[in-house]
Amino acid sequence: MTETDHYSLARAQKYHAHHRASLRTRLTDRREQDCLTRALIDAGSPESMLDLPCGTGRFWPAAARAGVCNLIAADGSPGMLEVAAANRLNATIPRQLLETSAFAINLPDKCVDVAACLRFYHHLAMAEDRSGLLRELIRVSRQHLIISLWVDGNYAGNRRMRKPAKPPVPGYGPRICRHRGEVAAEFVDAGCRIIRHYDVWPGLYMWRFYLLEVAA
Ligand SMILES: C[S@@+](CC[C@H](N)C(=O)[O-])C[C@H]1O[C@@H](n2cnc3c(N)ncnc32)[C@H](O)[C@@H]1O
Repeated sequence: MTETDHYSLARAQKYHAHHRASLRTRLTDRREQDCLTRALIDAGSPESMLDLPCGTGRFWPAAARAGVCNLIAADGSPGMLEVAAANRLNATIPRQLLETSAFAINLPDKCVDVAACLRFYHHLAMAEDRSGLLRELIRVSRQHLIISLWVDGNYAGNRRMRKPAKPPVPGYGPRICRHRGEVAAEFVDAGCRIIRHYDVWPGLYMWRFYLLEVAA
């Protein structure tokens, strides 16, 4: 698969500012942080976490609030990692900033309690990319995955599903809203048990977090 860095330093700075730009984006950011905190607490308050892709480190305060004290932050974009470095909370959040592909994570097997993959899965139009990503996340995590993406079954998602689909592109492409049942089946096929899901704006918008347990 072709991997391209989609975020220059300037675009990474813009991405970081975007989540603080308006009341709408600030509220969504806040609710996403709450979903992550709840998922981590439901996962038994793990100590170590992989945040991949970490982007600019938006989720680190929520991870710290939930008790994570050893965080590896990884992303494929040097620009994102440069902005993220300025958002470091302390020496262990993150302990390591790693430039790596999500499809070939440069980390050993079972090295973290939980691997979080937020706002990435719904950029993958190809089933083989999604299964490759899940394989890698399962490989590095000892117990849980937390994944956020767009699903249908809500006002915005149902509207979007009625529009003609764009031609799928391999790798990281435009965001896609998927059928909830299809997404759940993919997680189970990959060998995960769905523990819970958390809707960011229940009934209204597409963002959903899943807490998954990795089979032993
Ligand atoms: C929409 S951002 C999400 C970042 C962060 N999780 C958040 O929610 O703020 C998507 C991220 O995926 C990263 N990315 C894209 N393709 C990647 C790949 N193949 N491997 C690792 N990271 C990748 C981008 O650099 C970007 O930081």
